[in-house]
Amino acid sequence: MVYLNGNFIPKNKACVSVMDRGFLFGDGVYEVFPIYGKIIVGEELHLRRLQEGLDTINIINPHSNENWSQLIRDLISYHQDYQNQSVYLQITRGCDNDRKHTHSDLTPTVYMQSTPFVSKSKNDLLRGSSAITRDDIRWNQCNTKSISLLANIMYAQEANNHQAEETILCRNGVITECSSSNIFIVSNGCIYTHPEGSHILSGVTRKIVLNCANDCQILAKEKTFTKQELMQADEAWITSSTREIMPITSIDGILINGGKIGNIWTLIYDRYQELKNIN
Ligand code: PDD
Repeated sequence: MVYLNGNFIPKNKACVSVMDRGFLFGDGVYEVFPIYGKIIVGEELHLRRLQEGLDTINIINPHSNENWSQLIRDLISYHQDYQNQSVYLQITRGCDNDRKHTHSDLTPTVYMQSTPFVSKSKNDLLRGSSAITRDDIRWNQCNTKSISLLANIMYAQEANNHQAEETILCRNGVITECSSSNIFIVSNGCIYTHPEGSHILSGVTRKIVLNCANDCQILAKEKTFTKQELMQADEAWITSSTREIMPITSIDGILINGGKIGNIWTLIYDRYQELKNIN
């Protein structure tokens, strides 16, 4: 079952008009909520980012947070056979009479679907993962979780074609984030990640990881780092709602710290696992 504009209907019955500005222009925003059993991790932070995105593109939020919360819970209750699920929520500006760049006040299109997801086990993660690097050619408003993801999907596909987990992006020598995740490094016992701003999507998992570092009394700085610093780091990890915290042990075919998984990743990962069950 999926949710479309007020109704829960089977996925193969869900249809949107070709006049929808999401289809024609990518005019909309989205969120992905990770759900463990019935626990929605970072729900408030996801809903806050959704509100910020809608404010940025001038779409009036069609629901209160209480309504969203209920709708997500209704959707997940249709999928009780999934142990864990990720809910994708998309709001587009809606349908106009014809295709034109400008728009009048329209009724937003609201769509939600749920997909089962299995987070990798700690043992799997301990095997390490690889990534490639590319220049970050995206626009200057990466903090808006826009459904226009052309550059991101091209990067993701390129990683896939190289049998890599992710593409790490580099803007003017500085590492920003990845095609669909944030990136952290550890250097001399300190955790670094790119500061919030227009060059990254500030991930909810990123925020939770920074809290985990605080809980574990590990120094963490929201400070930029270069590609060279990434390659020489003691540890590198990527984070997202569906990947959790994943160690990257090889970048562009070069091992990071000899391919070893670091102690700090283990501490943060364990703390995240504790938190996600009590969120
Ligand atoms: N992507 N950066 C980008 C570009 C992303 O697309 C994502 C998430 C993140 C991490 O955000 P969070 O921790 O809130 O999931 C960072 C989602 C999962 C997606 O597009 O499916």
